[in-house]
Amino acid sequence: MKTLLARGWAKLPHDPRLADWAARAAEIARDAIESDEHSQQWQCDKTWFVGVDVLHNAPDGSIGDVSLAGRAVEELTALYGAQHWHRAQVSVVRPGYPKPRAGESDAAFRYRQHRDAAHVDGLLPVGDKRRRHLHEPHGFILGIPLNETSPDAAPLVVWDGSHLIMKQAFEQVLGGMTDARERDTDVTDAYQSARRRVFDACPRLELHARPGEALILHRQVLHGIAGFADTATAPPEGRMIAYFRPQLAEIPDWLALP
Ligand SMILES: [Fe+2]
Repeated sequence: MKTLLARGWAKLPHDPRLADWAARAAEIARDAIESDEHSQQWQCDKTWFVGVDVLHNAPDGSIGDVSLAGRAVEELTALYGAQHWHRAQVSVVRPGYPKPRAGESDAAFRYRQHRDAAHVDGLLPVGDKRRRHLHEPHGFILGIPLNETSPDAAPLVVWDGSHLIMKQAFEQVLGGMTDARERDTDVTDAYQSARRRVFDACPRLELHARPGEALILHRQVLHGIAGFADTATAPPEGRMIAYFRPQLAEIPDWLALP
């Protein structure tokens, strides 16, 4: 996990145990994305299925008799302890992405087109002015590809090493605070100026992976989704990735953990 801590992301090699899980998850995901129950999850003119909490895995991550296992799971458990695996997100992107999201401003759509809608997870917009607050402190993000695509099919994008710049910026506004005060603190200005420094300083990388491989992101790394290129290929359902981002029990751990 040295790479995760040094660069803010890691790609783990093929593991047959994770490939088994991905194959089972893909079967369920293909049905879920077409069901009426989840039709509201389609955004951006039906080119992006957000898919939060869509996969009905058990709290140990298993789906039926297929357990969530493999090197990525073992290494994350060694670093951050045993996890309660919430229902995974199933993120699906189809040809044509990006298109404007309903209600999205021109500026926000340009940011989606030109900056991959780059963000740090867990900083939720609060109130009319959508000021950012740390309300969902995740421990890490684990991405598990569910199908085979070309590398230019809306890959996950990461700014290499950006978690270090972000961490320093958030320590300046949140460092030493209690749980409640961190929740109530507006971090918008620190976040936006750190993001500008990241765009100047950190290389933008497109991360592609295949079923059986895993992508792990540090909780403070700046990341987004690239467009689905005209030349890209994917199965009819689109490019599908399952994501876990277990929440930390204590907000201060968001800054304190490695
Ligand atoms: Fe994200």
